[in-house]
Amino acid sequence: MAETRREPIAVIGPGRVGAPLGRRLGKAGWPIIYGARDHAREGLAELVADSGPAACLMTPPQAAAAARLILFAIPWAQARAAIASLGDLTGKVIFDATNPLRYENGLEFEVDVPHSAAELIQEWAPGAAVAKAFNTTNFRIMADPTVVDGPITMGVASDDAAAKLTAASIVTDAGFHFVDAGPLANAHYLEKMAAFYITFFFQDRPDAIEFHLRPRPNNKLLFGNGPAA
Ligand SMILES: NC(=O)c1ccc[n+]([C@@H]2O[C@H](COP(=O)([O-])OP(=O)(O)OC[C@H]3O[C@@H](n4cnc5c(N)ncnc54)[C@H](OP(=O)(O)O)[C@@H]3O)[C@@H](O)[C@H]2O)c1
Repeated sequence: MAETRREPIAVIGPGRVGAPLGRRLGKAGWPIIYGARDHAREGLAELVADSGPAACLMTPPQAAAAARLILFAIPWAQARAAIASLGDLTGKVIFDATNPLRYENGLEFEVDVPHSAAELIQEWAPGAAVAKAFNTTNFRIMADPTVVDGPITMGVASDDAAAKLTAASIVTDAGFHFVDAGPLANAHYLEKMAAFYITFFFQDRPDAIEFHLRPRPNNKLLFGNGPAA
C-alpha cells in the first residue's frame, strides 16, 4: 500500500530527531534538504555528507520552499515561531514529530495544549496537511530501529489520505512498522503514548519499552458494550 515515489523531504531541523531520520531516509533514496539556522554548527557538514547523494543544506525557509514534504522536528517551545518562519506552507505535507513537552532540571514535563500539538500546528499552517508521525520512540532508536528486538510501531494520524500514504512509505523506509492511527485528532493519543514512553527514562526504570501494535482480525466480535459471551 505504501507509495514508492521518493521526492525531496525538508528536515526542519536537524537535531536529535531530524538528523538520524534524515540520515536513514537519505540513504533509502529520499533527497534530504536540511533546514538549519546555523550552517557552521558542528557535525552538520558530516550529516549532509552521510545522508545520501542528493542531501543538501539550506536555511529553514529555503528548505520548506524547496520541498513539498516537511519533517518537522522542533522542540515544542519553539514550534510556533519555527512554523511562522517557514513562510507560506500551503500545499505542503508536514510530518509532525513534536511532543508538547518542556525540560526543567533534567526532567521532562507535559505542556498543556488544547487537544494535541499536531492540531495546533494544523491551525498555524491551515493550508498544509499535517500528519503526526515519528513521535513515539527515542532518537537513538530512530538512528537504528534494529538495535531492539522485533518491530517498532510508528503510528501516523492525519485527516489527509495522501499524506498518510506518503507517511507510510517514509515510516517504512525509516525502518518502522507503519500503523494507520486514524484522524489527526488521534495525535492526542500518540502524544500521550510518547509521554508514557518517556516516563521509563525519567522514573529511574532499569527497563524500557517500545510500542509494537498488532492487528486484531476478529475486531467486530470484541468491540461493543453488549454482554460478554
Ligand atoms: N529526542 C527524542 O528522542 C524525541 C523523540 C520523539 C519526538 N521528539 C520531539 O521531536 C522534537 C525535536 O526534538 P529533538 O530532541 O530533536 O530536539 P533538538 O535535538 O533540540 O533539535 C531541535 C532542532 O530544532 C532546531 N530549531 C529550534 N528552534 C528553531 C526555529 N525557531 N527555527 C528553525 N529551527 C529551530 C534546532 O536548530 P538549532 O541547532 O539552530 O538550535 C535543532 O536543529 C521535539 O518536539 C521533541 O519532543 C523527540
